[in-house]
Amino acid sequence: MSNVEITLLGLVVVSLGLAAWALKYGLKERRRRKGRPLFDGDALPEVNPKDVDNIFAESDTGTALTAEAIVIGEQGSQASTTIDEVWVLAALAKKSKTIFEFGTCTGRTTYLLARNAPDDARIGTITLTPDTMDTYRAESDDPDNARWTQIAKEESTFTSFHYSGTPVEGKVEQFFGDSKEFDETPWADTCDLVFIDGSHAYSYVKSDTKKAISMTKKGGLVFWHDYSPPCVGVWKYLNELGKTHPIKHIKGTRLAVLRVS
Ligand SMILES: C[S@@+](CC[C@H](N)C(=O)[O-])C[C@H]1O[C@@H](n2cnc3c(N)ncnc32)[C@H](O)[C@@H]1O
Repeated sequence: MSNVEITLLGLVVVSLGLAAWALKYGLKERRRRKGRPLFDGDALPEVNPKDVDNIFAESDTGTALTAEAIVIGEQGSQASTTIDEVWVLAALAKKSKTIFEFGTCTGRTTYLLARNAPDDARIGTITLTPDTMDTYRAESDDPDNARWTQIAKEESTFTSFHYSGTPVEGKVEQFFGDSKEFDETPWADTCDLVFIDGSHAYSYVKSDTKKAISMTKKGGLVFWHDYSPPCVGVWKYLNELGKTHPIKHIKGTRLAVLRVS
């Protein structure tokens, strides 16, 4: 083998070594960032709960008691919010008279919103059920359409909910049917808090968001669940909307939030 060939071979070996190292580093970094893409310049800015509302202010000993709330764990509950996520919503519910939730599922979050909200609060929530599932209509160009239709179906099996038969049931107004068909106009400018957690297909996130913003009064909050790259409809739509609206991602959660102005 000539000197030139040996040099070339050496260069190839070094290049392959560098490429393998870069790949390994990239995969490790992606894992560390919990599945987020390496280059996600479009992602929403991250904030802490205390940057969203002053009830989450921190004292020397940690989160102030203004943010205490009644919560239960998510174990055994389908498609649910984590303890941290439900705590943020439950704490804000304490000062929310009108609340709406897109996507009831087991009604765990509905129950906790109702349990923490004032006595005269009104909590609307909409869900699909096996009987109403055939009204679901995703757009054919929704990314990963079949998968999200299947997930919506699997999460639409409940007709009795966490709040059913409890003392807070009277605060809850349950709607059954497809959220694209839901007439939001009677709720216009009334909500202190809206939680969007229905279908995660892009066209539904977009439609639910448009309704939610019009239902929320000035100064009220709109939250989205499942702001994470695997939930492509939520991730893509919110990153787009974030270019024109000051939407923030709450650190350590899959919640995104917008204060309506
Ligand atoms: C992720 S689960 C909601 C979890 C719930 N918010 C919680 O925190 O426990 C999704 C819910 O959205 C509902 N859903 C899915 N597609 C819908 C649609 N097109 N219209 C209304 N509800 C829908 C499902 O029936 C299910 O109740």
